Amino acid sequence: MSLVTEQTAFSIEHLESFKSIIGERYVFTDEEALNYFAHDETEDLHFVPSVVLKPRTAEEISEILKLCNEHQIAVTPRGGGTGLSGGALPHLGGVVISTERLNEIITIDERNLQVITEPGVITEVLQDAVKVKGLFYPPDPSSRGTCFIGGNVAENSGGPKAVKYGVVKDYVLNLEMVLPTGEIIWTGANVLKNATGYNLTQLVVGSEGTLGIVTKVVLKLIPLPKYDLLMLVPFRSAEKACAAVSAIFMAGYTPSALEFMERDALEWVSRFMDSTTVVIEDDIKAHLLIETDGNNMDVLMQEMEGMAAIVSEFDCGEILFADDAQQKAELWKLRRRVGEAVKSHSIYKEEDTVVPRAELPVLLNGVKDIGRKYGFHSVCYGHAGDGNLHVNIIRGELSEEEWNGSLKDGIREIFQLVKTLGGTISGEHGIGLVQKEYLPIIFDENQMRLMRAIKRVFDPNNILNAGKIFDA
Ligand code: LAC
Ligand code: ZN
Repeated sequence: MSLVTEQTAFSIEHLESFKSIIGERYVFTDEEALNYFAHDETEDLHFVPSVVLKPRTAEEISEILKLCNEHQIAVTPRGGGTGLSGGALPHLGGVVISTERLNEIITIDERNLQVITEPGVITEVLQDAVKVKGLFYPPDPSSRGTCFIGGNVAENSGGPKAVKYGVVKDYVLNLEMVLPTGEIIWTGANVLKNATGYNLTQLVVGSEGTLGIVTKVVLKLIPLPKYDLLMLVPFRSAEKACAAVSAIFMAGYTPSALEFMERDALEWVSRFMDSTTVVIEDDIKAHLLIETDGNNMDVLMQEMEGMAAIVSEFDCGEILFADDAQQKAELWKLRRRVGEAVKSHSIYKEEDTVVPRAELPVLLNGVKDIGRKYGFHSVCYGHAGDGNLHVNIIRGELSEEEWNGSLKDGIREIFQLVKTLGGTISGEHGIGLVQKEYLPIIFDENQMRLMRAIKRVFDPNNILNAGKIFDA
């Protein structure tokens, strides 16, 4: 298999061809554009591409890919650039294809509760567009105000609502995509059930832009629940907060969000946002943010009372029940901006661990023990209801050697622990560039062989997002 392994040099003729395919004004080689597309939200990584292209149609993308395939030019697809595993980083140089101009919601099909959209639509824009019709598209990553549906499909994103409503894969019915060799295909059909051959749709969801560039997305919608209630529960022990999570589910409740925040997470984000909404008592070590939603307010009240009774058995402090829409919005804003707040504090490496929910207390304790052993501080938060714990390892005073050297052994130990607990190394952020060296912890040679073979079938010249997830 041919490998595109280093900065691909391409000639003036290639640039001219790109201009003739999409128009000169959508071909960018200026320093500002190249530097902008050199990074996403992953750590402080920076890889400058040779050119950025902003096509408008699948046909234009097809022409670009045919040319790049023929000349073995590395191509990196990019959505909103909010990724946390480096999936959109042009680490081999070459071409970045931005999907920002494929930004139309094509049809909201109210008869079938579906939406057909282009991939460059911002997730929150799509959510708001269907909401006015009484419909709901639940997957809501924290970056929903800037991330794209296409990127969400590429990463199989989750977010707080996943615990009740599932992740992106549970909503994608069909995809139009351009193969790395230029053909345009549909992966499935716009139906809720499909037992027709291999499930190409679900193979592409979560494939991190390595198998093709998605140009249309058909999503399932559900009716919008009428009401929700929210409470913030402080705990004197982070371990007990984690233990309360599985107790809630074992008692028969399915909250619409169940989020965990260590003390530092909430404290740092409150400071970052200049917010005084939450007063954190000295003895508090962690919080759970618990939401329930539905159409019957009496039922929701009973659920809240039931869950409050359960958490009170886990040494919790005084519960804050959000009493109006504004307070709810404020609490959600705090939760959604934790990542940003931590980043503003220090460079960090973000690990996206996920374990069976009841193993969460063991995972949290293990992460802290490993941190003590390797001398790093971590701030943990995430989607506790899914057993999905974001472990932010703070650079702080770590030297270059520790940060890019010995810390890897610590991360490896965290991932080995995750595996021992029956979990895996990414719940929703993907493997991309920064986690690929750890993939062999999870997959053996047989699994890797199958994945490499799939990549080869889609992308024989290995031009599309090469070196992401694994080296082909
Ligand atoms: C969050 C992102 C980082 O949960 O996944 O805020
Ligand atoms: Zn998350």
